[in-house]
Amino acid sequence: MSMIIETLVRPNIKALKPYRAARHDHVSGVLLDANENSFGSALPSSGLELNRYPDPYQQKLRTNLAALYGVRTENMFLGVGSDEAIDLLIRIFCEPAADSILVVEPTYGMYRVAAGINNVEVQSVLLNWDFQIDVAAVTNAVNVKTKIIFCCSPNNPTANLLRRDDILTLCNQANAIVVVDEAYLDFADSPSLSDQVNAIPNLVILRTLSKAWGLAGIRLGCAIADPAVISLLLKIKSPYNINALTSAEALKALEHREKVKHTTASIIAERGRLAEALRFIPYIRKVFPSDANFLLVRFDDAPTVYSMLVQKGIIVRDRSSEPKLANCLRITVGTPEQNDLLIKTMKELTL
Ligand SMILES: Cc1ncc(COP(=O)(O)O)c(C=O)c1O
Repeated sequence: MSMIIETLVRPNIKALKPYRAARHDHVSGVLLDANENSFGSALPSSGLELNRYPDPYQQKLRTNLAALYGVRTENMFLGVGSDEAIDLLIRIFCEPAADSILVVEPTYGMYRVAAGINNVEVQSVLLNWDFQIDVAAVTNAVNVKTKIIFCCSPNNPTANLLRRDDILTLCNQANAIVVVDEAYLDFADSPSLSDQVNAIPNLVILRTLSKAWGLAGIRLGCAIADPAVISLLLKIKSPYNINALTSAEALKALEHREKVKHTTASIIAERGRLAEALRFIPYIRKVFPSDANFLLVRFDDAPTVYSMLVQKGIIVRDRSSEPKLANCLRITVGTPEQNDLLIKTMKELTL
């Protein structure tokens, strides 16, 4: 374990003897070790042995996802969505009621909530007006209590990529874990930072199958990091966090990469078309550039537009109460038909 990880990890986690589940030891033979139902499952037609607990290390799926993201299996942790990885990282590195995480806001709200659940303080540094990291402000704010810095790139809800060099500077200068949440990277024309994880021990990348892969319903996300961090995640996760149905569906989905490439290209094309159309709507002040599958849009009066759209059955996200996002709505790029309806409806609103 590198020095930086060694010093950041909570002592109780370092000392923890993890639970050893039955399927850690044996996966074949006459399995009478886990109090499963030996007669089979209520759903025998699934073709999956659903009466058995799943592989705790998800070897096949981890190896396939590692290949997808161009890293080794030892660099890969699978969680029940990336949200699980966010929670576990906080639990590994942050002592409740003592340590803190740092978020660069406005950003994805779960970092703050996961910290709150774990009784971990949140330090907030605002993004600058270009929605980029103010590196000096972040490094000044980091103190001995700061154990994790969360950066989201492309950032939700501002939609832009953060500068790679700024993130690398933080990794270099801060004595903390730097988590880069790349949930929306598939929609951006930029390489992942995951190629750096074996060189930078305090860097953790999050990816998810919930966005470009269209699999939010199966709940599968990844943390990609130095094997020492991955070992800690595997050590504290619940033994069977990824269920057999999720694993089976994800493995099937990985055979459809061309389809995902195609739909991603369609979303990117629709994003451009939608952005262009919205620019001609008189009560819209700004459509921000997007590297994600959504647009951040500033209105004269966002809450009113939001309510009027809800009345028409179109639901977007009101982000106007976030810092620097006064009068901003976040709009997910839809299908061509959904986008046409949104554009038509917006044109017809009388404000
Ligand atoms: C930036 C970001 N990270 C993570 C997530 C959650 O991903 P998952 O579905 O993998 O838990 C979201 C969901 O909206 C998100 O916007």
